[in-house]
Amino acid sequence: MQTIQSVNEMQSHAIGLRSSGRLIGLVPTMGCLHEGHLSLIDIAKEKADKVIVSIFVNPTQFGPSEDYAKYPRMLEADIEKCRERGADIVFTPTVEDMYPQGFSTYVNEESISAGLCGVTRPQHFRGVTTVCLKLFNITRPDIAVFGQKDAQQCAVIKKMVADLNIPAEVVIGETQRDADGMATSSRNSYLTENQREEACNISKALMMAKDMVDAGTKSVDRIVAEVTHHLMHSRRIRVIYVQVVDRETMVPAREILPGQQLLCVAAWADQTRLIDNIKL
Ligand code: PAF
Repeated sequence: MQTIQSVNEMQSHAIGLRSSGRLIGLVPTMGCLHEGHLSLIDIAKEKADKVIVSIFVNPTQFGPSEDYAKYPRMLEADIEKCRERGADIVFTPTVEDMYPQGFSTYVNEESISAGLCGVTRPQHFRGVTTVCLKLFNITRPDIAVFGQKDAQQCAVIKKMVADLNIPAEVVIGETQRDADGMATSSRNSYLTENQREEACNISKALMMAKDMVDAGTKSVDRIVAEVTHHLMHSRRIRVIYVQVVDRETMVPAREILPGQQLLCVAAWADQTRLIDNIKL
């Protein structure tokens, strides 16, 4: 496995791979790799000849009061995990190389990114689309693999790829969950044992909602109210949103149409912002 830090070197290497007919699979990450990321490497390996994992904590997707500075960074351990999982290249650019002095061009998706997390993190998706387009231009992927846990991010990236005619297929990997039901996330590392115990109520509430839908509940109001009620019992949890949305457009649903919608939750567990979702 190779580790490449330089943007130019990564780009020439990718162009070389592509012209020799290799299919490139990209797994973009911000590091602190967990089973969720590693399962995306498995998918990329199945579909591509060469798998590139990018590890870059992207400053433009964090708001001024967010956790950019304290975001967990563990590059050596991450590189080792990529090696063990069979990635071919780990791309670890620096902030200076990705955003040189005077950088002034951003990509804005203006519809899907407006609701849900876009309401309280107004610059977040602009940072995500900008860095992903840069990563796509640098690594030239035939396929790019993202995790369903970030459902809105997945929908925004798919839309950007379609709108801007980017020649890559976006593949979505299922959310990975720990034994207690928590969706794997780098931010889970912020949680104490007590906080985690309460944060588990997020996935429990999602499963409860799915059971309600499976049992015939059609009312979005009813689902949202039950989930919110369930979460309000946790002392450390503060709900940011509970919404049923169309899984592609992220437009809020009026009634449950099984198979087409997601129930999305964002909540604070004390100081940690968590998101999760379930297909209804
Ligand atoms: O999901 C993430 O870790 C990030 O948003 C991504 C896609 C790597 C862009 O920085």
